[in-house]
Amino acid sequence: MSIKTSTPESTRTGPRASPPRVDAERLWSRLMAMAEIGATPKGGCNRQALTDLDREGRQLFRRWAESAGCTLREDAIGNLFARRSGRTAAPAVLIGSHLDTQPTGGKFDGVYGVLGGLEVLETLNDRGIETQRPVELAVWCNEEGCRFPAAMMGSAVWAGRMPLESAYALTDRGGASVRGELERLGIDVRRPLERQPLAAALELHIEQGPVLEQQSRRIGIVTGVQHMSRHEVIVIGQEAHAGPTPMAMRRDPIRVLADALPALYALTAAHGPQAKFTVGIIETQPGSPNTVPGRLRFTVDLRHPERERYRALRAEAERLVREAIARHGLGGDIQCVWEAPGVEFDPTCIAAVRRAAAALELPALEMVSGAGHDSVNVAAVAPTAMIFIPCAQGLSHNEAESASAADVADGANVLLHAVLELAQAQTGG
Ligand code: GLV
Ligand code: MN
Ligand code: MN
Repeated sequence: MSIKTSTPESTRTGPRASPPRVDAERLWSRLMAMAEIGATPKGGCNRQALTDLDREGRQLFRRWAESAGCTLREDAIGNLFARRSGRTAAPAVLIGSHLDTQPTGGKFDGVYGVLGGLEVLETLNDRGIETQRPVELAVWCNEEGCRFPAAMMGSAVWAGRMPLESAYALTDRGGASVRGELERLGIDVRRPLERQPLAAALELHIEQGPVLEQQSRRIGIVTGVQHMSRHEVIVIGQEAHAGPTPMAMRRDPIRVLADALPALYALTAAHGPQAKFTVGIIETQPGSPNTVPGRLRFTVDLRHPERERYRALRAEAERLVREAIARHGLGGDIQCVWEAPGVEFDPTCIAAVRRAAAALELPALEMVSGAGHDSVNVAAVAPTAMIFIPCAQGLSHNEAESASAADVADGANVLLHAVLELAQAQTGG
C-alpha cells in the first residue's frame, strides 16, 4: 500500500514531530454514517448479521478501507480483514471488532472498534508512519449471536474453536442458514480459512456497563473477560382449550417457568452481585391466547467472572430447571448451547494499553469485561487485550446507547499509541 507523505515519521526528529492523534471529526462522522444503515426510529441500529443491511455496512467499510490503501480479504465464514503493510512481513498486530448489531442495538457496540481501528490506520497514513509489523483490521462476522445463535461466531471459527460446518449449520428463526446467507450475500464459502500469524491483538469497545462512568475514569484497561454460557430450555406439555380444560387436568409448560424463575433469581442473588442471569427469549407454541401451550422454549444466559462461582451457578441452574420440569410431570430439558470460558488477557498487551493511557494522561481503570467479545477467541491464539471507553449510563444493547465524542477520540488515541508500540513504529531503519 502507499504511504501518503514522503518523510516517514520514524525518520523524523526534533520538536516538530508532535505525537500523533486521530482525526476525531472523521471518526465521529464515520460512526454516524455507519449508524444510518439500519437506523431505528429511536436512534439506534438494527443491522443483524448477514442481512442485507449488514452487507451494506460491510460495503461502506470496504470503500473506506480501500481508499485508505488497505488490502482486503474475506474468509469463508465472512470475516473481513483490511491489511496495512509494514516494513517487514513479520506477524501483524490485529485490531478491529464487529459491525453487526442487536435487534435494538446502538451506534457504538462493535462499530466503534472497527471504525476506531480504521481511524488508527488513516492516522498512520496521514502522518506517514511506517510500522515494522503490518497492522490488520478485522471485521468479525456475527459477533452478536442474536440472529444466528452463537455469539462471536466468526472469530471462533477463525481461531479454530468452532468447526466451520457447525457455524454453517446455524439457522435463524425463519430457518435461513449461515451458509445460505453467506452465499446469498456473495461471500465465497469455498475460500480457504486461513489464520494469519499475529504478534498481538487489541480491541477497542465501549464498556457496555456503568463502572467507568461511575468512577469518572476515561479508559478501561481490560485484563480479561468473564465466563459465560447460553442455555435453551424446552418444556413439552399438551395443547388444550383454555376454557373447558380444568386446571388440574392441564399439562401446562408455563408452570415450569412460574416455578423455576423465582428460584433462578434467588440462586443468582446468592452468588453475589457479580453473578448474572438473563432470560432473553420466551416462546410458546402454538402461541394462541386461548390455547394452553403444547411447547415452551426459553433461553438462559449465565455469567460470572470467577470460574468456581460460574461453574456452581451453571450446575445449580441446570438442576433447578430439571427439578421444575420433573415436579410438573412434563417432558423437556435444559441444554447448554454455547459457552465461552473466561479469559485473562496478555500482560504485554495490557501493559501497552496501560502505557498508552498514561502517556495521554487519561485516568484509567483495570477491569474485567462483563460482555463477550471476539477478543475471547483471538486470545486463544495470540497475545490480546482490550480498551474500553465509558458509555452513557452504562447502557448498551439498547437504542439509546451513546458515548461522548471526547471519549470516542481518547479511546482511539489509546489504541493508536498501543499499536505504535506493539507494531514497533519507531524502531526500524
Ligand atoms: C455479546 O454482546 C455478549 O456479551 O453477549
Ligand atoms: Mn460488541
Ligand atoms: Mn453486543
